[in-house]
Parts: sequence; structure tokens; C-alpha cells
Amino acid sequence: MTSYKELGLVNTREMFAKAVKGGYAIPAYNFNNMEQLQAIIMACVETKSPVILQVSKGARDYANINLLRNMARGATEYAHELGYDIPIVLHLDHGDSFETCKDCIDNGFSSVMIDGSSLPYEKNIEVTRKVVEYAHQHDVTVEGELGVLAGIEDDVAAEESHYTQPSEVIDFVSKTGVDSLAISIGTSHGANKFKPEQCTRNADGILIPPPLRFDILAEIEKQLPGFPIVLHGSSSVPQEYVKMINEHGGKLKDSVGIPEEQLRQASKSAVCKINIDSDGRLAMTGTIRKVFDEHPEYFDPRKYFAPAREALKEMYKHKNIDVLGSAGQA
Ligand code: G3H
Ligand code: 13P
Ligand code: ZN
Repeated sequence: MTSYKELGLVNTREMFAKAVKGGYAIPAYNFNNMEQLQAIIMACVETKSPVILQVSKGARDYANINLLRNMARGATEYAHELGYDIPIVLHLDHGDSFETCKDCIDNGFSSVMIDGSSLPYEKNIEVTRKVVEYAHQHDVTVEGELGVLAGIEDDVAAEESHYTQPSEVIDFVSKTGVDSLAISIGTSHGANKFKPEQCTRNADGILIPPPLRFDILAEIEKQLPGFPIVLHGSSSVPQEYVKMINEHGGKLKDSVGIPEEQLRQASKSAVCKINIDSDGRLAMTGTIRKVFDEHPEYFDPRKYFAPAREALKEMYKHKNIDVLGSAGQA
């Protein structure tokens, strides 16, 4: 058993209380490898932003939990070495069972999500309650989910979006004891968040998605004043990287994300954690494709990982400063 406290990490409790009060959101960036982690830490130290490092079940399988735990420890020391001790959370993204959550808590995670959103309501309460009881014994915070996001992203799949019903949130939060609640108000996972027929096109042929359901968010806030709310599926799918990918041999079609202004608006509300993974994938892939295309002679991985890491860092800084408002809050 390793406690996250030995690794220099924190849970989300204080971080979320400050974010809700301050009208900003904490970035929750997924990572699977060293370059992604370096980019996140550099960006968050340079912008003095608190950060949630997210590890999905797929990332656990890909990278190994012992390595991930020690990478998180390394991240706290790296931030210190870079000159600023930002608060860092190590969070399980989309935990699929009590066992997965327990394994992460026992391995140094300071926060876990139990995603029972695809289960019947009572079953979701049951498994979430069980995770909360175990997590709170170890001062680990828990995110639950009500409502189902649309979109398909590897292990995370749901055929259609079911918005969170505001009438259920008080009951769910009080019966489970969760510390934060992920809701569904129109975001979805992946780089193809909407079907073209759901969108309009602007003069440049870019798809404009339907707006998020801020009315549902307002109703949820009315039911649970000041309670920390989480938005998944919040990549904006930067068109510069979609273009870069397609100009250098890629094939991405109808890729569209959540407009940044809408995320900025959400950040000012009780939404205090915003999950972003796909945008990092796009920035990294676009940059690497470009380097490969322009320098077919390269075969040293550092030649393409270094510019990819730099692109990621710049993108995360932009999000912290201009979108989530978390810059300067560490
Ligand atoms: O919400 C899902 C995240 O983007 C994680 O994706 O399961 O492919 O690691 P992954
Ligand atoms: P995106 O696919 O929009 O980046 O969402 C990531 C996410 O919700 C991780 O849990
Ligand atoms: Zn998610």
C-alpha cells in the first residue's frame, strides 16, 4: 500500500473548493507516457496552475501502474525542480469497478472516478457508495457520474447521449457521498463529437456544433449549490491540428469539438474540473506527422518527440490561461 501523501500529491477537496469559489476550472489532462507528462508539468508550472493528471484504464494497461505511480512522484519533484510546487492530483479516469478503484487507491492515486453511468440508477449508487467508503478511509476523493455521454473512445463507449436529470442529483450525491459529480450536458468523448447533420457549417466549411445545455447545468447548480461539477469530453479539437494531420498523410473527417468560449463560460460556474485528452492526441500526432513528412531521414525518436512535447506544452498553457482560467491559481 502506497499513500499518495508519500508521493507529494494532494486530493481534489481543497482544489475544487477554491475553483468553485474562484470561478475557474482545474485542467484534467490524460497522460500515457513521459513526453505527455513533461508537457503537462512544464505548462502548469509555467502558468502556475493546479493540475489533475488523469490515468485511464487503457493507460494503466499501456504504461503499467508501478511506472505510473513513480512517474507521478517524479512529476511532483520535477515541478519543484522547475521552481514552483503546484498542487498535483493523480486521478483514475473512468474507473469501471470497485476493484480497479481500490487497486489505484492502494497504488498512490489521490482521486478516483467510478463510472457507473451506464448502470441502472440503483446499481450506480451501490457501486459508487462502495468506492466512496473505501476511498474516504484513505482520504482519497471520488468522482461519480450521472447521465451518459455520447461518443466512442476505445474503452469508453455510449451510443447516445442521455443528459443528466437535475431531479436525480441531490439523491445521488447524498446517497453516495461523492466529492464531485460528472454530468452530461452535450459534451462527448473523442475527436468526432457530433455528426455533421447535428451541426451547421460556417463560411469556411467548418462544422459548428450545437451549444452545450447550460440550462441543465444551471438547474443542477440550483439543486446542489457550490457542489463541484465535472465535464468530460471537453476537447475543442483545434482545426489547425486536424489540418496538419490531414496535410501530412492523415485522414480525419468531420472532426469537431467543444468551442473554447463555451468551456470558458462553464469554467465560471460550479464546473471545476474539465477533462481534455483528444486535443493532446491531435497536437502530438499532427506535429509528429509533419516532422516525418518534412524529415524522412530522421530516426532518432527525440527528433519528433521533442517538437511534439513543445506543441503539447504550448496548447496546455493556452488552455490554462485563456480557457479554464486556472493560470495563477496554484
Ligand atoms: O475518456 C476517455 C479518455 O480519453 C481515455 O481514453 O481509454 O483511450 O485511454 P483511453
Ligand atoms: P476528450 O475526448 O474530449 O478529450 O475527453 C476526455 C475525457 O473526458 C477523459 O475522461
Ligand atoms: Zn471522460
